[in-house]
Amino acid sequence: MALLPTLATTRTSSLSAVDPERAKALVFRPFPIGRNGLVMPNRIWLPAMVTWRGTEDGFVTPSVREIYLRYALGGAGMIVLEAIGVRDIASGPLLRLSDDRFVPGLRALREEMRAASDSLVVPQIIDFLKIATRKPTHDFVLGMVKRGRVPESLLDVSDAELEARPEAWLPDPRDRRDFLYGYRQTVEDLRADEILRIPGWFAGAARRAKQAGFDGVELHFAHAYTLASFLSVTNRRTDRYGGSFENRMRLPLEVVSAVREEVGADFLVGCRYLGSEDILAEDGRILGNDLDEARRIGVALAAAGLDFLSISRGGKFDDAKQPKVGEAAYPYTGHSGMKCIPRSRKDPFGANAHLATGIREAVRAAGFSTPVVTTGKIHTFEQAEALLREERADLVGMARALLADPDLPRKWLAGRDDVVRACVFCPFCEEEDHHHRVVTCTLWPKGSDGPRHRVTPGVWRAGEPWDPEGVFAAGPSSSVGSAR
Ligand SMILES: Cc1cc2nc3c(=O)[nH]c(=O)nc-3n(C[C@H](O)[C@H](O)[C@H](O)COP(=O)(O)O)c2cc1C
Ligand code: SF4
Repeated sequence: MALLPTLATTRTSSLSAVDPERAKALVFRPFPIGRNGLVMPNRIWLPAMVTWRGTEDGFVTPSVREIYLRYALGGAGMIVLEAIGVRDIASGPLLRLSDDRFVPGLRALREEMRAASDSLVVPQIIDFLKIATRKPTHDFVLGMVKRGRVPESLLDVSDAELEARPEAWLPDPRDRRDFLYGYRQTVEDLRADEILRIPGWFAGAARRAKQAGFDGVELHFAHAYTLASFLSVTNRRTDRYGGSFENRMRLPLEVVSAVREEVGADFLVGCRYLGSEDILAEDGRILGNDLDEARRIGVALAAAGLDFLSISRGGKFDDAKQPKVGEAAYPYTGHSGMKCIPRSRKDPFGANAHLATGIREAVRAAGFSTPVVTTGKIHTFEQAEALLREERADLVGMARALLADPDLPRKWLAGRDDVVRACVFCPFCEEEDHHHRVVTCTLWPKGSDGPRHRVTPGVWRAGEPWDPEGVFAAGPSSSVGSAR
């Protein structure tokens, strides 16, 4: 049975109005994508945003279905489903595609979205390495002693002394990092046999995405995660998976081929990667891949036959803030994190567009027509239209602007920008993500379950007055702020 029988079968077209001038805009010109005749109904792209609404073992819940149905009713041309794990390991409420048991839930979600909208839908598939919470000082030392990494005498040093001068007691920088930030596995730690399994995990997840009825997959090669770390100039492996450009490209390209072999030429396969890593070092230098590196990567990925390149920025562990004891490092807290999810008033609109533009130029110069998506603090029709008109990107990604108002595409098309719930680029939704709370928007109607509780807003229908406090599909599934 459908989650929300009425709305799941309500087509966006029946909710919409069309302003004739707006209909001529590039934003609303349909966009063919991939090799199988797929067409995005407009050029608005919803980039992946984790929702923390899955079950503890990675299954879709009514709350997950609700938010994606809500996005579908808004009418974005492409909806990228949040990062979904490819490895069959416990990963909290993060969704998974690591086994066939996850297919039915995702298929039901896709069917509801299809009944509501012509939006194309692809899951973002991700692999990530192990990460642990920062340990209390004594627990950390005890663990190190047990593993024989430090002498037992370190147990006699007071916590205060160790915390004040960690370099005196932990000469290995890696041990110091684990002490101060919590243990984090890196690509240098992976054995060759572990690396060999990664392409198969992605291929299996892509096959299941196809079985579930999605239009394609987005390979997550961005931010702090496994494939981005292989691509990075900070990858210090000394074997065929690190060092030279060719070696750093090896695993991502193996993933692309394994996925393509599994799903065939017709299924959309694109990726998200970084136009710039923007890692702030302690000495003030900016480290990691820059735009020049990203241009080379873009050409190699286009040559490998990807159907789209979605460009992000930063979001690295390397410069993340020190977490509190009991918490894990979060890659969106440092300099690179602020570049990824711009939250300062000083960040200009379209803050990261130059990266997509630079990559698009390189890809076109190399003879490829692969579409390039730009994202980063875009929220008005004029900004989106100008980016397309000036050929700075082929598709306009808006994450938080569409979270704040999923109906933004239909409102723009109707020329009703005056009733858009405009994102203010505050820290609220990112904080919910950071603490693995259900992601909502501070501008949504307030709920009754605590000061942070927000309720999914009601659907805007052209020709009817807009109620900013209206609630989506009043009923059991509307209490998303606490639903799991
Ligand atoms: C709550 C939240 C969750 C996010 N989750 C993901 C994710 O799962 N995968 C991803 O590639 N980016 C993720 N991002 C980054 C966004 O896709 C986007 O790149 C970023 O927010 C900047 O775009 P915007 O200014 O349009 O919001 C997330 C961002 C937010 C705010
Ligand atoms: S919580 Fe703030 S940043 Fe996030 S979508 Fe809402 S207004 Fe935008």
